[in-house]
Amino acid sequence: MLVAEKNALTEEIEQLVEKYGKDRSALLEILHEIQKKHRSIPDFAQQEVARLLEIHPVEVYSVISFYTFLNTEPKGRNLVRICQTISCDMKNKQAVVNAVERELGVKIGETTRDRKFTVEYTNCMGLCDQGPAMAVNERVYMKLTPEKAVEILNEVK
Ligand code: FES
Repeated sequence: MLVAEKNALTEEIEQLVEKYGKDRSALLEILHEIQKKHRSIPDFAQQEVARLLEIHPVEVYSVISFYTFLNTEPKGRNLVRICQTISCDMKNKQAVVNAVERELGVKIGETTRDRKFTVEYTNCMGLCDQGPAMAVNERVYMKLTPEKAVEILNEVK
């Protein structure tokens, strides 16, 4: 990150701290705003948030790790989330995971090089009797087979 970019980011975070207050309870709001603007919360921003709120950087990082809508690297334009909870797991979600990973050339948690897709696990989406389930952005697909999952990805591509 260039010095000018760092300075701009610091200034931006200072304004957010001014807006939400220099308090631990402002942390989530501040992170949310940074995420919204930059699509991620880079290392430097984490350090600056910690410095300005006078908390430990580990605390900032643990909040980011806890909330799935916060991330340290920009995600792909399409977010693929595969349910990893027990019912879907028992209905062979692993075969779907393998097919998706093979088709996109990434592992769970990764983003394709062209930034088109990020693949993640998610927890139960409330469709346990219709698993394995997978969401692509806002749309949920059920009773998946590996073939059907690949077909869906190709439609999105
Ligand atoms: S276990 Fe997968 S949707 Fe509930």
